[in-house]
Amino acid sequence: MSDDALGLDEAYSVQSPEDNKRLYAKWAATYDSSFVDAKQYRYPKAISEVFDQVVTDSVARVLDIGTGTGLTGMYLSRLRPDVVLDGMDISPEMLEQAALKTRTNGSAVYRQLYERDLTQDVLNENAPYEALISSGTFTHGHLGPECLRNLLPLLANNGWLVVGVNNEHFEAKAFAAKLDSLVLLGAITEPEILRIDVYEPGSVHYGDQARVIVTRAIN
Ligand SMILES: C[S@@+](CC[C@H](N)C(=O)[O-])C[C@H]1O[C@@H](n2cnc3c(N)ncnc32)[C@H](O)[C@@H]1O
Repeated sequence: MSDDALGLDEAYSVQSPEDNKRLYAKWAATYDSSFVDAKQYRYPKAISEVFDQVVTDSVARVLDIGTGTGLTGMYLSRLRPDVVLDGMDISPEMLEQAALKTRTNGSAVYRQLYERDLTQDVLNENAPYEALISSGTFTHGHLGPECLRNLLPLLANNGWLVVGVNNEHFEAKAFAAKLDSLVLLGAITEPEILRIDVYEPGSVHYGDQARVIVTRAIN
């Protein structure tokens, strides 16, 4: 398969963490040009804008879940220039791309990048963070609702989660029920669920939307 042929069909057909590692190893070098630019994918920008609107505190340290090539951190650093950003992703090749992303002042977007399988308990020496942000990673064959629980220990008490979830995945995997159970357990505050456009007008995928879970950890 050529890099140009990689896209949503391949991304949605993965089933395991190993499939994800294989897919993104092939896709990393051309992900920004052949997918983000070509398909006018605005998800990282849109999530950063939601984050900037809903996170009313001046958070100092934010973790980007499923960092990919680092576009979410790049956009967030433009809106919150003082924020320290770390990232986690299963793909070393995607993280290599993220390490190249720079802020408007020329410094690196991310302080630390961690290769982690987020379907498992997550070790991280820099926790706790005041907020987590995620775009494009809670989707078919990537991360499901059960992974939300793995992320909570990374947050400080009252730490924010601003997590995008593919619309169909949200319904198929019963994210709402999982969120209800976390609220009942006293692990998170009552979430707000927003919607964003994933693609710009003019994109062949224009009209696809994602949910955005906004909640806070009770630790
Ligand atoms: C569609 S990309 C999104 C990247 C970036 N956030 C964006 O919006 O452009 C999905 C990312 O999830 C990562 N991923 C998939 N499964 C994972 C897992 N089990 N643990 C951590 N990261 C995973 C992939 O390596 C990939 O970088």
